[in-house]
Amino acid sequence: MSEAMLTEIDHVAIAVKDLDAAVAYYEATFGATVAHRERIESDGVEEALLKVADSYIQLLTPTTETSPVAKYLEKKGEGIHHVGYRVDDCAAALQSVKDQGGQVIDQAPRPGSRGTTVAFVHPKGAFGTLIELVQE
Ligand code: CO
Repeated sequence: MSEAMLTEIDHVAIAVKDLDAAVAYYEATFGATVAHRERIESDGVEEALLKVADSYIQLLTPTTETSPVAKYLEKKGEGIHHVGYRVDDCAAALQSVKDQGGQVIDQAPRPGSRGTTVAFVHPKGAFGTLIELVQE
């Protein structure tokens, strides 16, 4: 068994077709407020982060037709897209996935939104959930 690496749920990401409508829903229904909004061109997504205690709900929408999130919406429709776990050392956590024979999407950590360092773990080999390792 490895040492505990996941320090917090960083975010739960939800794929939506209309980001403004989804934000308006969370604001009107739950009084949530947008802590951060960012367009990440390299991933073909725009996100809005709504703070929930020390974690976020990340509303995610595609900005291009070839975006992985666009393909996800086409195949599965709106809903939970991935879970982001906070880690102290993204590279070490990613290495642990590899050491355990898991499939990774990112071979090495890369820049994420709001200045984080991230790496994605493939749902195959992770019991069907796309996992994002997030280092602040
Ligand atoms: Co994410």
